[in-house]
Amino acid sequence: MSSPSQPKTQKQINLLRGWPHASLLPTAAITNAAQTALTNPSISTPGLLYGPDAGYEPLREEIASWLSGFNSGSAAASTPVSGPADPDRICITGGASQNLACVLQVYSDPGYTRVWMVAPCYFLACRIFADSGLKMAAVGEGKDGVDLEGLEKKLQEAEGIERKKLKTPKPWSKTYRNIIYCVPTFSNPSGKTMTLPCRKSLVQLARKYDALIITDDVYDFLQWPTTATSSIPASNKTTALLPRLVDVDRTLDPIPSQDGFGNTVSNGSFSKIAGPGTRTGWAEASPKFTYGLSQCGSSRSGGAPSQLTATIVCELLRSGELGRHIEGVLVPAYQRRYGALMDAIQRWLVPLGVTVGEVSSEGGIFGGFFVWVEMPAGVDSGVVARRAKEREGLVVAPGSMFEVEGDDSVKFDRGVRLCFAWVEEEELAEGVERLGRVVREITEEGVTGRVDEGELGVDLGEFR
Ligand SMILES: Cc1ncc(COP(=O)(O)O)c(C=O)c1O
Repeated sequence: MSSPSQPKTQKQINLLRGWPHASLLPTAAITNAAQTALTNPSISTPGLLYGPDAGYEPLREEIASWLSGFNSGSAAASTPVSGPADPDRICITGGASQNLACVLQVYSDPGYTRVWMVAPCYFLACRIFADSGLKMAAVGEGKDGVDLEGLEKKLQEAEGIERKKLKTPKPWSKTYRNIIYCVPTFSNPSGKTMTLPCRKSLVQLARKYDALIITDDVYDFLQWPTTATSSIPASNKTTALLPRLVDVDRTLDPIPSQDGFGNTVSNGSFSKIAGPGTRTGWAEASPKFTYGLSQCGSSRSGGAPSQLTATIVCELLRSGELGRHIEGVLVPAYQRRYGALMDAIQRWLVPLGVTVGEVSSEGGIFGGFFVWVEMPAGVDSGVVARRAKEREGLVVAPGSMFEVEGDDSVKFDRGVRLCFAWVEEEELAEGVERLGRVVREITEEGVTGRVDEGELGVDLGEFR
């Protein structure tokens, strides 16, 4: 039977694209910041010249004190976590993606470094690792954010494999034996948040196995209570949900003294809070690590990435406009959108046997851009995604997209990632209703088999 195509009048709904809706961009605030930066020669002149290796110094200072405030307490863990603001720990980047590539250029070696991706993983990170010639293996999230037991077993097994460095060592860097990549808070794609005990154990594991943990901490600022009874206390409103792994590594005793590089780097970004087009972010790590990162060949040649935008983002932070945008616009909008999506999931999907991923939302707090749902047993999410696109004009991200390239041991046949940030708010419920129709049809027809993301005909690079 040929599949009925999407009715011509039906508008496509895209729950795959992980971009902020246009109404959530702080255009007016960025205009003001740019005006300030460009009309003051003490800002515009350095802004238009090559930047220092580690990036525009005033922005490093602004970010250091802003992060130190945000990470000084913890909404869920009530632990003081971060140390004092220290610009030497901060390096300006061209965003989390660009910086991941630089971290790998400086701190990995394809003949020596093994990479462990916590999966389901941010799918576009895989290519960045592959571009550096690195082989990846998957480790599940488990209940707490990383399957620590599984990871340690794999780390131990890999110790037995012979490794040979291919790159010439540089005095400002080191070559880690292992790299662990994860998104510990409001993960893309699962929405999951790694628990505090798991964070501590992961740092200890990294110290034991000479591993660098690279965390994409790009959603940390976007958090809200999920129920009327769970609320972020007013005094804690602008504090992080949990200590980042980089904070744990900074404070968890005994701190190893051997080389001063540490075992974590936090990859931060203005993409989700100001706009992806800013192409500006920051890395935080030990001062020694940060210095080494700033010596990446592309920064030595071209100066720090995003130099001009860094001056504008600096004004955006300094004026308090970014903080007001996050609290006054983004958080309320994402909270509403999340609520609308969850209501629709309860109404249209749960009765069909679809479950919502376990997110360990600490203290009833959720955040980020994504909700992960699991299809009923026997229903392949690739089949669902293909039919949703063909028959319902609905684009969703099937679980296979978030598997780790080259490692078939961890599969996500039934998972679907739904993004509530991009579409019109009113389209969220409609999108989920369409998904419900597809799941119902497939269940009733007993359709079996598997469709991989490669067969879906969507350009993944466009979606993030
Ligand atoms: C986990 C994660 N890392 C990195 C990125 C990309 O960040 P940037 O725009 O700063 O390169 C995204 C965007 O979706 C993301 O979800």
